[in-house]
Amino acid sequence: MSTRLIKIAALYLLVGVAMGIVMGIRQQFALAPVHAHVNLLGWVSLAIIGVVYRIYPEAAQTRLAHIHFWGHNVGLPVFMLGLALIFSGHAEFHPLVNVGATVVFLSVVAFVANVWRALQPAASAGAATAAAGIAAMGVAKARAATANVAAR
Ligand code: HEM
Ligand code: HEM
Repeated sequence: MSTRLIKIAALYLLVGVAMGIVMGIRQQFALAPVHAHVNLLGWVSLAIIGVVYRIYPEAAQTRLAHIHFWGHNVGLPVFMLGLALIFSGHAEFHPLVNVGATVVFLSVVAFVANVWRALQPAASAGAATAAAGIAAMGVAKARAATANVAAR
């Protein structure tokens, strides 16, 4: 989930900066809001969420994580396409923006709920450290025992 999100985010960055360069070269800024949201909802948000899931892998496995993933990745292209059409003079495509943006918003609600339910930093970090410590002690004891046997 984390890797997929970061790879998709990188593609949004490519599209976002390409749009920025084209806008700059042509000195036409009508699509600036599309450029802004491709970069911010595509690159920045998805990359940060990908990193969150890398730090807290337990949050990446949940049903809410999948609902967010699909909502964000289906809703955003619809939202961006609709916004691009509107700012190119096709106001009749407003419903695309409404639907796309609502789906993205609901996916964000799922992400927030997921983060609040799944993240238990202190407890899980402490438990992980303790488990690693116990495992290390186990390995040390095993090594000592093997050394004793070998010495005999
Ligand atoms: C090579 C990279 C980029 C280029 C050439 C570029 C170019 C531009 C241009 C020409 C505008 C329109 C400015 C105007 O309306 O006067 C703009 C707006 C904007 N860009 Fe970029 N951009 C780049 C990368 C990014 C990235 C990576 C982000 C976010 C992570 C970003 C966020 C924004 C935002 C939020 C606006 C809207 C600002 C406003 O409404 O005033 N841009 N950019
Ligand atoms: C479903 C999610 C979102 C919706 C529906 C939304 C909608 C909007 C709207 C309607 C505007 C005004 C556009 C205009 O000037 O005509 C705007 C501007 C802006 N939004 Fe969002 N937004 C969303 C998410 C975000 C996120 C997550 C970020 C940052 C991480 C962001 C950053 C900005 C910025 C920087 C501007 C000003 C740039 C501009 O006007 O082009 N937005 N947004």
